[in-house]
Amino acid sequence: MNLKVAVLPGDGIGPEICEQGVAVMQAVAKRFGHHITTTHAICGAAAIDQVGDPFPEDTFQTCMAADAVLFAAVGDPKYDNDPTARVRPEQGLLAMRKRLGLFANIRPVTTFPCLLHKSPLKDELISGADFICIRELTGGMYFGEKYQDNDRAYDTNAYTRHEVERILRVAYDYARRRRRHLTVVDKANVLASSRLWRQVAKEMEPAYPDVQTDYMYVDNAAMRMLQDPRFFDVMVTENTFGDILTDEGSCITGSMGLLPSASTGEHTPVFEPIHGSWPQAKGLNIANPLAEILSVAMLFEHFGLTGEGALIREAVAASLDANVRTPEIQVEGGARYGTREVGAWIVRYVAEEQQGSGA
Ligand code: IPM
Ligand code: MN
Repeated sequence: MNLKVAVLPGDGIGPEICEQGVAVMQAVAKRFGHHITTTHAICGAAAIDQVGDPFPEDTFQTCMAADAVLFAAVGDPKYDNDPTARVRPEQGLLAMRKRLGLFANIRPVTTFPCLLHKSPLKDELISGADFICIRELTGGMYFGEKYQDNDRAYDTNAYTRHEVERILRVAYDYARRRRRHLTVVDKANVLASSRLWRQVAKEMEPAYPDVQTDYMYVDNAAMRMLQDPRFFDVMVTENTFGDILTDEGSCITGSMGLLPSASTGEHTPVFEPIHGSWPQAKGLNIANPLAEILSVAMLFEHFGLTGEGALIREAVAASLDANVRTPEIQVEGGARYGTREVGAWIVRYVAEEQQGSGA
């Protein structure tokens, strides 16, 4: 297969993890005989510094011309500490999501047997947890009408029937391919927007008799995720709730650096880790590249290349088993591996598999 991939490294640890993601992507392409051309483009604080816009038109065009986007992270403390900043790096990410129509953000939460102890939760509780959070990504408070003056501010949590229907369809499709259990997460006891979600879901439910649908308030879902994460198969929720619940989900897996995601919708799909730009770690070669590398697995799988995705997942699991791990998940007293070393180990694994099995 020929693929054109737009690469958006962004800020902070973004460029470091992205480099490893691209290296693994190319190693897998070579291994399976695919041809992937990459085009790098700027976004986030890096783009503000260069051209004054966190998602420049050139970058948008590069994304539109590509088959997929590999994104890393944006954000810079110099904007975080300035509430009056006119443009912020995060606006670049939001602009990308909006302009590419990426309404469905797929965030899988799974565990790795050798990392169970890295979770603050009990091993026996999380072992085997495996669910997908489907986060609506282009609506709600992130994009609703906003206002701010010195005394008053608001964000509007607006949703239309169309927006709710299309994300629920995605969620039902995933549920059908998995364990046929969908949990619609909302706050319908308080929020009008949630009541619309629930109404639309109730209307759609009869069309999916093979899927068990249940409804849960977001506060309860946040608790249930910690008490009994294996309860969940597919959960679907609005933008802000999904943002919060998936950070919580990373505690089940054991590190923010392990959770990939795919954002799909109207135009080019984007593959991105769920974590941020971790500016304090920039250039230190300590950031975990696995969330980015697993995002590359999701990229291949998006194009039906399941063997390619499986090889990446196998290599990631093997690296963890071999204790080739970045500091935040390293066993006490274990050898030190950095971002580059973990990436290189996975590239080598992928390449050697080629010679070893030829499969
Ligand atoms: C995420 C991030 C972003 C979000 C930030 C960086 C704007 O936290 O992808 O979850 O809130 O969506
Ligand atoms: Mn987030």
